[in-house]
Amino acid sequence: MSPELVTQRLVDVGCPQLTTPDEGKQLYDFVLEQKPEGILELGFAHGSSTAYLAAALLELGGDARITSIDREDARERVPNAETVLRQLELDERVDLVYAHTSYTWELMKLIQARTANARTEPLFDFAFIDGAHSWETDGLAFFLVDKLLRPGGSILFDDVHWTFGNSAALKNTDKVRRMPEDERTTPQVMKVVSLLALQHPSYGNLRVSGNLGLDPEARDGRKRLVLAAFCWSFGQ
Ligand SMILES: C[S@@+](CC[C@H](N)C(=O)[O-])C[C@H]1O[C@@H](n2cnc3c(N)ncnc32)[C@H](O)[C@@H]1O
Repeated sequence: MSPELVTQRLVDVGCPQLTTPDEGKQLYDFVLEQKPEGILELGFAHGSSTAYLAAALLELGGDARITSIDREDARERVPNAETVLRQLELDERVDLVYAHTSYTWELMKLIQARTANARTEPLFDFAFIDGAHSWETDGLAFFLVDKLLRPGGSILFDDVHWTFGNSAALKNTDKVRRMPEDERTTPQVMKVVSLLALQHPSYGNLRVSGNLGLDPEARDGRKRLVLAAFCWSFGQ
């Protein structure tokens, strides 16, 4: 299924496009280019990004799958991701995981299941991090995802410029109003990238999409970081 058809089908089923058609095409093309055997997505909401990822896997053939994690309350979204993916006939490739508390806990379980003799066997080649956008959650998520990412794999961080204070959905909530000024106004995903991921010895190739410029060259066998500058608004 082409990315244009995914967009059309998402409109048909009334799925809010938290991933815009342009962003969806970038996700789709990235998957076609990288040919991951396994994809991890943190934050699926209504499933729009998941649909583009799943359509790209179908296009590639093979039997690669997506594990996508959100919270229990994602079931209550209208339409929810399960319905959207089923209606688009893209559900076969996707395992939706509903976390009671946070994807960091579900990642602990995955790491535990893949660990033997004090070594974790990785299972993903591409991770798309588009969930909490906070230092507290995604700082830990980065290290957990890294354990599950095969050598040469890629992490895409979305919303590197996003802040709690600029979020239309969150800025007027009590939680955000009570935050100290610096926590409210700091792009926290960018802190995860600049202070953790970019300094990590396993990551060598930075590719930036959106309004930060683009450097598509993979220079060595290390893992890649991809930053997306788009700001997608969402409710939590
Ligand atoms: C921006 S939305 C995801 C949008 C989706 N990737 C898309 O483009 O269609 C962020 C999602 O992350 C989820 N989320 C935020 N923090 C989370 C956490 N700690 N654990 C699990 N899910 C979380 C929210 O419930 C929300 O559905």
